[in-house]
Amino acid sequence: MSEEKEMTFYEAIHKASSSITRFPLIPVRGVPLMNYIANNWDSIWAFRPDPSDLLIAAYPKAGTTWTQEIVDLLLHNGDAEACKRAPTPVRNPFLELFSPPPIPSGLDLLEKMDPPRVIKTHLPFQLVPPGFWENKCKVIYVARNAKDNLVSYYYFDLMNQSQPEPGPFGGYIHKFMQGELSWGSWYDHVKGYWLEREKRNILYLFYEDMKENPRREVERIMKYLDLSVSDEVVSQIVELTSFKNMKENPMANYSCVPSPVFDQSISPFMRKGEVGDWKNHFTAEQSKLFDEDYEKQMKDVDIPFRTLI
Ligand code: A3P
Repeated sequence: MSEEKEMTFYEAIHKASSSITRFPLIPVRGVPLMNYIANNWDSIWAFRPDPSDLLIAAYPKAGTTWTQEIVDLLLHNGDAEACKRAPTPVRNPFLELFSPPPIPSGLDLLEKMDPPRVIKTHLPFQLVPPGFWENKCKVIYVARNAKDNLVSYYYFDLMNQSQPEPGPFGGYIHKFMQGELSWGSWYDHVKGYWLEREKRNILYLFYEDMKENPRREVERIMKYLDLSVSDEVVSQIVELTSFKNMKENPMANYSCVPSPVFDQSISPFMRKGEVGDWKNHFTAEQSKLFDEDYEKQMKDVDIPFRTLI
């Protein structure tokens, strides 16, 4: 029998470090995606989840990791140690992510897990593999106001060496407005899930609500998942998923991704965790221009986003 130990996630990424570059984006049905994702699109689209699988969907930097941690803790009745069994991307595979070998793809990780699985995606609604809807899987979507989402994404693109260079902040605002960033248009993303939320029984959460009243939102998630944990456990989950605690938790703060990929000395993954940080970044002129464009892009829906709480 082979004594060979399986490589950890960290080791696999470390081994692939020299092949990590700022990957170009290739459109898939008009949505720009990292070339590794676009090149493997057929197998991603063909993925068949189990009806018991749960999908956590969000535009990048909207609060995906936070929601994942809350869900994992709810599923483990608030057991902090159980939720430290592996880093976030191993506990909840990233459905569409393909990277240079030997980094396992999301699909590789999923294949090795038995349902019910919690799966993460940044895909917009129209690119979610149809098996999720055919099998009536539960889906939690988390949305964050555009300006804070943009700022968070800007810092992420500075530190994540596999994402395209963000360039200067002013130009980045334009790329965001035009839907040119990885995973495409924020506007289409938040609208896509919003318009389908009732028909598809999607739980639609807002980052700002989670900041304002985390207990209320943890309870909403609990009910949606048909779970019932004690009030004491809910309090424990709120505490364990505070920004400060998650920032210090090596299984939640993405220290599992070595520095040639996530250079946390440029900007930590758990950066600020606030509502309204956009005020420190947008000039008055940029904010005006952004708001005018926002009105146009969002005129067909009424999604109650808040840029301050
Ligand atoms: P900032 O860059 O504004 O700090 P995602 O997980 O979708 O990539 O989102 C990352 C954003 O969510 C980052 O935002 C990160 O700090 C924030 N975040 C992660 N965990 C959080 C928590 N427990 N409370 C508040 N914000 C959190």
